Amino acid sequence: MGFSMVASHAVGKGKEPDAVFAVLNKANIAKAALGQEKVINASIGAIFDEKEQFAAFKGVSDYFRKLPDEELMNYAPISGLPDYLQAAIDYTFGQYKPKDAFIKAIATPGGTGAIRNVFYNYIEQGQKALIPDWFWGPYKTIANEHLRDIDTYTMFDEDNNFTLSSVKEKTLELLKMQDNLLTVYNTPGHNPTGNSLKYEEWEEILDFYKDCAKNKNKKIILLLDIAYIDYVSNPDEGRKFMKLFSGLPENILITIAFSMSKSFLFYGIRCGAIIGVSSSSEVAEEFAQANSYSARGVWSNGVRGAQKLLVDVMKNKELKESIDKERTQLSELILNRADIFVKEAKEVGLDILPYQGGFFISVPAKDPTAIADKLMEDNIYIVPLKKGLRFAICALPTHKIPGLAAKTKEALR
Ligand SMILES: Cc1ncc(COP(=O)(O)O)c(C=O)c1O
Repeated sequence: MGFSMVASHAVGKGKEPDAVFAVLNKANIAKAALGQEKVINASIGAIFDEKEQFAAFKGVSDYFRKLPDEELMNYAPISGLPDYLQAAIDYTFGQYKPKDAFIKAIATPGGTGAIRNVFYNYIEQGQKALIPDWFWGPYKTIANEHLRDIDTYTMFDEDNNFTLSSVKEKTLELLKMQDNLLTVYNTPGHNPTGNSLKYEEWEEILDFYKDCAKNKNKKIILLLDIAYIDYVSNPDEGRKFMKLFSGLPENILITIAFSMSKSFLFYGIRCGAIIGVSSSSEVAEEFAQANSYSARGVWSNGVRGAQKLLVDVMKNKELKESIDKERTQLSELILNRADIFVKEAKEVGLDILPYQGGFFISVPAKDPTAIADKLMEDNIYIVPLKKGLRFAICALPTHKIPGLAAKTKEALR
């Protein structure tokens, strides 16, 4: 090791390049050399249209650009515009707002800010958050950045069914070591697999946590990462499980990372919220205070223009309907792209994880990096994960999908 200036906890940080952006970089170099048509770039989690252009909602873009300077550029309150917090809550739950619960929200820069706040405020330094073994890499980064860690449960059994038994086993194991137990659920439309938990699975999970919560020394925190909630075949139905967050014991706190990144294709504008659901007004109040303090101490305030946009969308039926329509069209496009891949995977006998929605499909693989390198020889750019390969079907125009499953199967041979 050479000379280092950083404090001891920061030594070695950032040495590994970001997995997604490293592949994206290579895809862009190939594109510049060979032309766009020759390159299959399934690396980045952003929607590209059928001409492979960055997709935005016209309704969002037009409205945002016309906001007066004061709404666009002035500071927002640290916690967020009060109307925005209500709008984020209303948007998140739709018609399934839990009845017997106190619900609070604090503005954050995207879902990432929301996740950061929960990791920092709800587990102790050195403790572990529980996440699935197929996971969005930044969970680990966020945990480590805040001197916390992660532990994983096995997400699927050999028949590719979601393994609640593994969640339970790991939970009980962790509860022996720590009183604060934070578990992350990225559903519906999980990144990287596309899995969505079923309503009955939620019932079972919550019953299990209620049992764990009988020990009043334990603090059970669920973090629901709903980044892809609007990209499933029925986003309204996909929210139904949220009504189950009603009347929970006071030592179970539900936190929800709301993000405008995908729901409004506002990725770079950085707007989201952390929403807390508790049966205790005291816990809910503490949630708002702690997260507001975190905001002040980490990023100060959020993007006022984006907050104002959501407020107006939720008040203006016509505007909301036109944006909803654009979103439905893009969502159907992605689901259709996924259908092609899933169907061809079946035809060629390629084992993929169950896809129900979202931006990605995953293929289990023994040596993901070697397979990804092999596919790269064919100008196919995908992200190798620990346990397999991630295909960002959101970024691929439909005409580039046929044949992809067969080529992957071939590379796996
Ligand atoms: C699983 C998951 N969670 C959260 C996010 C957060 O995104 P943002 O911070 O842009 O809202 C993303 C974005 O890619 C994601 O894939």
